Amino acid sequence: MRIGIIGSGGIGLAFAGQVVKAGYEVIISNSRGADSLTDAVKQLGGKARAGSIEEATAANVIFLAVQWIHLPAVAGKISNWKDKIVIDPINPVVPPDYKIAELGGRASSEVVQEMLPGAKLVKAFNTFTPQLLGAIPEQNGGKRVIFYCGDHTAAKEAVRTIIDKIGFAGVDLGTLKEGARLQQYPGGALPGLNLIQLS
Ligand SMILES: NC(=O)c1ccc[n+]([C@@H]2O[C@H](COP(=O)([O-])OP(=O)(O)OC[C@H]3O[C@@H](n4cnc5c(N)ncnc54)[C@H](OP(=O)(O)O)[C@@H]3O)[C@@H](O)[C@H]2O)c1
Repeated sequence: MRIGIIGSGGIGLAFAGQVVKAGYEVIISNSRGADSLTDAVKQLGGKARAGSIEEATAANVIFLAVQWIHLPAVAGKISNWKDKIVIDPINPVVPPDYKIAELGGRASSEVVQEMLPGAKLVKAFNTFTPQLLGAIPEQNGGKRVIFYCGDHTAAKEAVRTIIDKIGFAGVDLGTLKEGARLQQYPGGALPGLNLIQLS
């Protein structure tokens, strides 16, 4: 199983750290190219390497860790998103004041899904800071909860497997329509919560 990561900021690297630790093969990419990722890849160790956005999107699962305003550029760079499993940790905020983007009454992930035609989108990993996402997921005898939702069962199962393997407790919130608004920042009930599932 190979995971492609687009975006090497706080969230992309925190996620990369967790999946590399769990033994996944990872290709990480950004806007500046593979050379800019030499140090990051060295620090990640394991089976991590730098690559192009095209190489990252050829992986089995893609983690799309770019800012909302950069989505159209990334979406347009790949000619065919059909059947690609994409994890969406994106919060729909726009600099410089980080107000919510215009979403036309939809959840942000419904808009992202439209930008990536045919992709199998799973919303997840957007409710924590990079520090918390990168921290050891076991706490107080339990596991930190990661919420996820999406419209494609097989894609959700693939993401659930990653969540399990990296040591978090996955909680399925249903379809994008049902779950994405709860997960969304700003406005959702779940961002910022550090919940631990006790076994
Ligand atoms: N930070 C948080 O607390 C937090 C929490 C939850 C969710 N999120 C969400 O997670 C996403 C990433 O956040 P972040 O804080 O990690 O962002 P960030 O630090 O700004 O990093 C964004 C990354 O996207 C890359 N990028 C921009 N345009 C690109 C393009 N056209 N092609 C490929 N890569 C491109 C940048 O590349 P370069 O490095 O080359 O510039 C950078 O590595 C955002 O949508 C954010 O809303 C953030």
